[in-house]
Amino acid sequence: MDDWKNNKPLKNPHFGTIAIHVGQDPKQWSSRAIIPPISMSTTFQQPSPAEPVQFDYSRTGNPTRKSLETCLAPLEGAKYALTFSSGLAALTSITHLLSAGDNVICSDDGYGGTNRYFRTCCSKLGIETTFIDIRDAENIKKAIKNNTRMIWIETPTNPTMKLCDIKAVTDHVRKLPDVFVVVDNTFMSSYFQQPLALGADISMHSLTKYMNGHCDVVMGAIMTNRGDLYQRLKYLQNSLGAVPSPFDCFLVNRGLKTLHLRMERHMKNGLEVAKFLEKHDMVRKVLHPGLKSHPQHELAIRQCSGFSGMLSFYMNGGLQEAKTFTRNLKLFVLGESLGGFESLVEIPSIMTHASVPADVLKALEIDGSLIRLSVGIEDAQDLIEDLNQALEAARCIR
Ligand SMILES: Cc1ncc(COP(=O)(O)O)c(C=O)c1O
Repeated sequence: MDDWKNNKPLKNPHFGTIAIHVGQDPKQWSSRAIIPPISMSTTFQQPSPAEPVQFDYSRTGNPTRKSLETCLAPLEGAKYALTFSSGLAALTSITHLLSAGDNVICSDDGYGGTNRYFRTCCSKLGIETTFIDIRDAENIKKAIKNNTRMIWIETPTNPTMKLCDIKAVTDHVRKLPDVFVVVDNTFMSSYFQQPLALGADISMHSLTKYMNGHCDVVMGAIMTNRGDLYQRLKYLQNSLGAVPSPFDCFLVNRGLKTLHLRMERHMKNGLEVAKFLEKHDMVRKVLHPGLKSHPQHELAIRQCSGFSGMLSFYMNGGLQEAKTFTRNLKLFVLGESLGGFESLVEIPSIMTHASVPADVLKALEIDGSLIRLSVGIEDAQDLIEDLNQALEAARCIR
């Protein structure tokens, strides 16, 4: 990376160029391999006892992981990136920056596993969480207490696609030196949303999703420009030990090489599918920030440079119709997760968000008729044909 920085071929390389070249310099390997080798060794020869070396033990640092982290950081305009064994491992490590008695403010509508972690695991460590509607930045400002240390924003939220005005929140939090803001950027990927440029202290990813993009790795990452947070998180990465395998690092590094191309296609397909669904009489409402009908469409355009393939919609009918619809799909695969090249479908209330208490699901309008799609990069007309025939099959049971 340093080499690449010092001998930058271009003054301001763009996203695709960074994804393909940064951290990949063949000169860093004695073999001059163009593709970073998978370095499986857990330990490294030391020239003499206690002499500092770049790598000594693979939990502390690994060449393949280093190559990936070096590539990830500039993709988000960050100085530093660290990777973890999953998105939730990244969340857990970040939470270890806090102490018993601290308060966290978190989106009330977000990934079910994040909600479960704050509600059932953090509470046991004496860290309390205030869940709020993050659509209005004023709600966040009002919820900040003397012991608030972290604000956890997921935008757009999973699965109801609500947005938070990141800049409005970070402008306010800047006046509070003890509070830091984390944005879970999983739904947008680094390609469409840059939380650090909007003032966030940490951008966090489940790399499992768009960043890897091939549904074959579970991994997480954080990016930051704050040296103090990086030093503490690097310490936690080693001390907690939730590190990824070199093989998984290799795969994510490979996935990043096509991120910009995949995201453009996810956006195109997602919008075409959303517009199709909006016109279908078996569909009550479509939730996609790129649609003019989305109540925060203007914010989406201001804050993001595009849209991913994520969208949700309410079917006419209830859980039975939703189940019939999903059972009849032929291309969309029924499954959790998102952001891979293949299209996925799920019913959040009984799948990804089943761990969220029933009263919370009700308040968030996550009911049996809500379907979430991760629109892949197949041909859009085939996806639409598939959705259409499955909606017609659901009509038949009404
Ligand atoms: C928005 C979001 N954040 C975090 C996570 C957790 O990531 P992982 O499954 O890699 O632990 C997920 C998983 O679905 C997610 O959708």
